[in-house]
Amino acid sequence: MRHLALTLAATVAVIGLSACGKSGGTESASTPASAPTPAAAPELSDAEKQTLLAALPAPYNTGDLANGKKVFAVCKSCHTIVPGGANMTGPNLYGMFGRKPGTSEGYKYSEVVKAATFTWDAEHLDKWLASPKTFMPGTKMSFVGVKDAKDRIDLIAYLKVETGYKPQ
Ligand code: HEC
Repeated sequence: MRHLALTLAATVAVIGLSACGKSGGTESASTPASAPTPAAAPELSDAEKQTLLAALPAPYNTGDLANGKKVFAVCKSCHTIVPGGANMTGPNLYGMFGRKPGTSEGYKYSEVVKAATFTWDAEHLDKWLASPKTFMPGTKMSFVGVKDAKDRIDLIAYLKVETGYKPQ
């Protein structure tokens, strides 16, 4: 656990640095990220992922990461989840938990997402993923939703483990 916390702290430090490096430029929000920053953050081992999973609040601690990864396959055409990953049709999702919607650097969001005032957590994400257009009418995320509740639990657990979420 101690090692995991250190790894995560290092990850955050790396992200912080790369974000600083980028903020000097005046790159336009619509520029496709043709040269994504290399993923400098250390990969979590399978054991570290299982430790992080077990530390999630119920029901996410029972999430099936393999199924979550399978469900995420439908998101992959539009989203990257690695640190510094490209914005594609949708924004890079690394570090999304605990930040406000519409704040992934360099991505041009719809007005409704930019105007949202909550922070992304499992509860909001569950509603968003069930039906983005019902949850936030006007979003440009053209995705019908993940209808199965257990698939959403597994997907959210997978996203928490893969996007640098830190347990409290
Ligand atoms: C067809 C492309 C597409 C697919 C498929 C898709 N998304 Fe998106 N996603 C988008 C777009 C576009 C946005 C930006 C929405 C806006 O600005 O209105 C977005 C936004 C998001 C956000 C908000 C991010 C932020 O920074 O606030 C999350 C979270 C998200 N998507 C998760 C997912 C997940 C998980 C899946 C798979 C179940 C998925 N998306 C499937 C295109 C897609």
